[in-house]
Amino acid sequence: MSDRKTTPREITFQVRRFDPDSDVAPHWGEYKLHVHDGMTVLEALHQLKAEQEPTLAWRSSCRMGVCGSCGMFINDLPQLACQTQVLHLGTDVVTVAPLPNYENVKDLVPDLEPLIEKHAAVKPYIISLDQIEINAPTGEFLQTPEERESISQFTHCIKCGLCLAACPTVATDPLFLGPQALAQAYRYSADNRDCGLHDRLEAIDLFHGPYQCHLAGACSQACPKGVDPAFAIQLLKRTLVLDSIGFGKKKSSVAKIMPLADVVKAIEEFAPPPRTV
Ligand code: FES
Repeated sequence: MSDRKTTPREITFQVRRFDPDSDVAPHWGEYKLHVHDGMTVLEALHQLKAEQEPTLAWRSSCRMGVCGSCGMFINDLPQLACQTQVLHLGTDVVTVAPLPNYENVKDLVPDLEPLIEKHAAVKPYIISLDQIEINAPTGEFLQTPEERESISQFTHCIKCGLCLAACPTVATDPLFLGPQALAQAYRYSADNRDCGLHDRLEAIDLFHGPYQCHLAGACSQACPKGVDPAFAIQLLKRTLVLDSIGFGKKKSSVAKIMPLADVVKAIEEFAPPPRTV
């Protein structure tokens, strides 16, 4: 076993505190903790709360980078606390603050309501013209592996909101839809099963829409799931321009249906990869 495994390092945590019931302004709390190799910022916060500061508040759930609830401003970068190892930060003093570009509810808890509202505004679901099939499905809409691959990375969004916290345009224009919602607008509009671009125009083709993005790329750097929202926004701009001059996806180009019997047969024939655990 290495020394780093057996010798914890003392780290000073400067944590932004704010209680709306008693504080007129945020302030910093300072705490020291012996940190083991592999300890995440989230685990450090749990230990600080258990041993030193029982009133410390933050939001988290899965502890494995899936739920997207533990976004924080760690050493001045938006990061997931459950995926950020303290010793990997390489500093003896670690600062932890709530995500910027959001209202602060308490301590490290941001108000993510604007993120959710913007996400909902772009209608983040498949809009099909085939209402008969939607209401009484006879099978599944077909999507080839190539069609799936063309939007694949944009489906990985966990709505953690780090991209909005990193975005310099959101910082100056709170009404800007932002990288998360715009990337999802592209993800659904580009899906071969979707015909909903025109239903989304009311939300996306505005002064506060994709043309406000000046391609800083900070959103893509911040994304913990490898999504490239800055790229999606450029693709969305191209989609809107092509649509405006009549070269967009034809409304009639709805996806073909794979009959239910064929879906069942394909599932039966599917060979899952061997178990690894
Ligand atoms: S706790 Fe779920 S992503 Fe960190």
